[in-house]
Amino acid sequence: MDEPCTSRSAAVDPATRAATDRLIGAIQELSMARSLAGIQEIVRHAARELTGADGATFVLRDVDQCYYVDEDAIEPLWKGRRFPMSACISGWAMLNRKPAIIEDIFQDARVPVDAYRPTFVKSLAMVPIRAMEPIGAIGNYWARPHRATEAEVRLLQALADSTSIAIENVTLLDSLRSAKEAAEVASRLKDEFLATISHELRTPLNPIVGWSSLLLEETLTASEVRQAVEEIHAGALKELAHVEALLDVSQIIAGRTSLETGPTDLGPIVKAAIRSVQSAALAKNIRIEFCEESEVPRVDVDEKRMQQVAWNLLSNAVKFTPNSGSVRVTAMRSPTEVCLVVSDTGEGIDPDFAPSLFQRFRQEDGSSTRSAGGMGLGLAMVRHLVELHGGRVSAQSSGKGLGSTFTVALPASRRSNTAGRA
Ligand SMILES: Nc1ncnc2c1ncn2[C@@H]1O[C@H](COP(=O)(O)OP(=O)(O)O)[C@@H](O)[C@H]1O
Ligand SMILES: [Mg+2]
Repeated sequence: MDEPCTSRSAAVDPATRAATDRLIGAIQELSMARSLAGIQEIVRHAARELTGADGATFVLRDVDQCYYVDEDAIEPLWKGRRFPMSACISGWAMLNRKPAIIEDIFQDARVPVDAYRPTFVKSLAMVPIRAMEPIGAIGNYWARPHRATEAEVRLLQALADSTSIAIENVTLLDSLRSAKEAAEVASRLKDEFLATISHELRTPLNPIVGWSSLLLEETLTASEVRQAVEEIHAGALKELAHVEALLDVSQIIAGRTSLETGPTDLGPIVKAAIRSVQSAALAKNIRIEFCEESEVPRVDVDEKRMQQVAWNLLSNAVKFTPNSGSVRVTAMRSPTEVCLVVSDTGEGIDPDFAPSLFQRFRQEDGSSTRSAGGMGLGLAMVRHLVELHGGRVSAQSSGKGLGSTFTVALPASRRSNTAGRA
């Protein structure tokens, strides 16, 4: 008689073969997973089916805690609960970077029996996810005494290794996705900014071109020539101011600004800023009020830079407040700081826009046809300058149409604590 066929595949028992097939299936599914939730779903089912256990858990490390994210079991286990790393078996497997195989949970000192008593569990096996630096663990549980075999642990460990790669892929994918989104937002902002800046730079050029054309025709009277030159001069000055503002902001944002600080009284700074927006305010019938509390200490600031801060906040307040509104500036002290508060009764800030307020190029109305001029750089510059002085700036508004309040908080001068007002 012929010898019975003894090829290797025929010798593999059906249970082992089924488990291997299930593992291969899980690995394939994991390789296509695109989210952590997807991975959880795959692992919790596969872990239980691989060994035929009565329950499986998927645990993730959350700093110094083990988070029982998901489970598949005959009765509830610890889904959604967290335990300290030092007080659970998944923590032990992660901290020791090796599997824990426990045949009788009541005979093993590592087991927190109080957590197990309400459950069906008699035996368990736990393997860490990512051997070098564990990020989680996969557990198997049996309702009857069972010592997990070497083959079962090997299957679980293979599943854990694939899970680790899948988690790394998903994390990488997430960071690529957020980097791509951030790059798209930055690119869109740059495009919008180019449109805004072109608009802003073209506006003063119109009178320059118009009046210089008239001059070239040589038909103007002497007084018209004077007016032409004045208009051209004013337009050129506006253009210069725009270009200087752009250069200034890029220097400040690149961290190439040095401050010349000295103990300074905020009062004259605010008054000078009010003077420079007064004509714009008068044109809109906006009242500006300055309330200077007594004994406001001096601040260590660069006067010219603080002037820019005050001017930007005030010019915004006037710009974004409709006719007949009011603007109030207050200089006040707190125990360790001096605050400059600029509030207006203007159009307010939409809560959705508030987080972008101090970012450069950001304007709530980003269209190049918007009514208010400006390049969307003022508040970014304010924030950088204030932070350079060791201070903070914040904005508060109850919403659209409800006015805004900007607060600059600066450390009080340590050199001189008395206000230097006459
Ligand atoms: N006082 C204010 N009230 C309402 N919105 C404001 C106020 N100040 C600033 N904003 C909003 O913040 C945006 C950015 O301000 P800013 O950086 O100074 O740029 P710009 O004045 O050139 O528009 C403004 O376009 C506006 O949408
Ligand atoms: Mg502005």
